[in-house]
Amino acid sequence: MDKRPRKVFVKTYGCQMNVYDSARMHDVLEPLGYSEAANPEEADLVILNTCHIREKAAEKVYSELGKLKRMKRIKAEQGGEMLIAVAGCVAQAEGEEIVRRAPAVDLVFGPQAYQRLPELLARREAGSIPIVETEFPAEDKFEKLNVGGALKRSVAAFLTVQEGCDKFCTFCVVPYTRGAEFSRPVEQIIAEARKLAAQGVREITLLGQNVNAYHGNDANGRSLGLGGLVAELSRIEGIERLRYTTSHPRDMSEDLIAAHAINPKLMPYLHLPIQSGSDTILKSMNRGHTVENYLRLVERVRNACPDIAMSGDFIVGFPGETEADFESTLKVIADVGYASAYSFKYSPRPGTPASEAPGQIPEAEKDARLQTLQALVIAQQTAFNRKMIGRTLPVLLEKTGRQPGQLVGRSPYLQPVHLLAESHLIGKIVDAHITGVGSNSLSGHYRPSV
Ligand code: 5AD
Ligand code: SF4
Repeated sequence: MDKRPRKVFVKTYGCQMNVYDSARMHDVLEPLGYSEAANPEEADLVILNTCHIREKAAEKVYSELGKLKRMKRIKAEQGGEMLIAVAGCVAQAEGEEIVRRAPAVDLVFGPQAYQRLPELLARREAGSIPIVETEFPAEDKFEKLNVGGALKRSVAAFLTVQEGCDKFCTFCVVPYTRGAEFSRPVEQIIAEARKLAAQGVREITLLGQNVNAYHGNDANGRSLGLGGLVAELSRIEGIERLRYTTSHPRDMSEDLIAAHAINPKLMPYLHLPIQSGSDTILKSMNRGHTVENYLRLVERVRNACPDIAMSGDFIVGFPGETEADFESTLKVIADVGYASAYSFKYSPRPGTPASEAPGQIPEAEKDARLQTLQALVIAQQTAFNRKMIGRTLPVLLEKTGRQPGQLVGRSPYLQPVHLLAESHLIGKIVDAHITGVGSNSLSGHYRPSV
């Protein structure tokens, strides 16, 4: 394969794991001569790294493919070439169907195949038919991936430690698109984290669809849970902060809870979705826990780490959800007090059990419930943010802000904080006195110690 300088544009949809995967795609393409394009127009290769979690997310891909098809034609008329690839979970779920619906697509590959991008591209260039690769190979994809040096690193980075899910919640496509649960070996993760630290990364968010189900082997063949992994990673010089997402209530082990009490590098923030506050709905979702299990768990976590910021996911309008079920969800939200939350209207996904369940809820009802729920969540989030006024918080400064002289960082509770500070402080943790609250962020002052 020739290695003339070329440009790739990767557009990322969906979750943080897709952000991580897109960065790895840049890494595997770099040795082939690909650098990052500023826009799709100037790219020789455009990759859409897609999300299949809800219908809206999946449909966005086809409207983007319509635009790319026109760009590809214009480029061809000017004697140039543009390859179009669809990656990620829509690629995994729909495979061949994508090239039938969008014949301009050259390449379709799932989340378990992108380490083979060079080979797939070579095959596409050698032949005229589109390449579709949606196998789940037995090889360790991560072994073949390398955190490259070409990408500009920011202060905070993602690191996938676990992938896939065996829980089969009845609404969810993840067990089908990402496959069975898999944990990366401890040594591999430590090596990647060390590399990130050497590149200037100060905060790492460990990623996994069920991140707290992590159980990787260390160099001595011992199995380590997420609590143990966090302990290992916190020993790496340069890594100042650790976070993890997304957790399942069934996998919140004692040592992970204890880590929140004893490890100052582990940030006081926990994304722990419950999805619904009704036991009947949780049962038909196949969540494997009750509302009471969840509330008791939150209590245990708060006993270990009293200031922990709780975050969650909620689905409204799941099949069979009555007004009373919905009210129970509102009650859980009121009881827990979330610092942030993500809420969605139930979206029937092809091939999942709930999509064929009786009692589908009309769209208008879902809309109304979502609005009610979001109003409550926003009120809680605002109250949580307001409590920060007058406090001094350690803020990890990440980048320049929109105003001149302004930097933006994160509080331990993941709130963006705007303050005036010199740009050489990016990558440093400073004490910020919080003076204001915006809709989704805080503002404050930083006074350098003299
Ligand atoms: N419909 C609506 N929301 C969904 N989620 C997952 N599947 C669906 C679906 N079919 C939400 C869940 C999950 C988050 C990532 O997306 O709340 O935690
Ligand atoms: Fe989907 Fe449930 Fe697995 Fe989360 S735990 S990825 S919601 S199946």
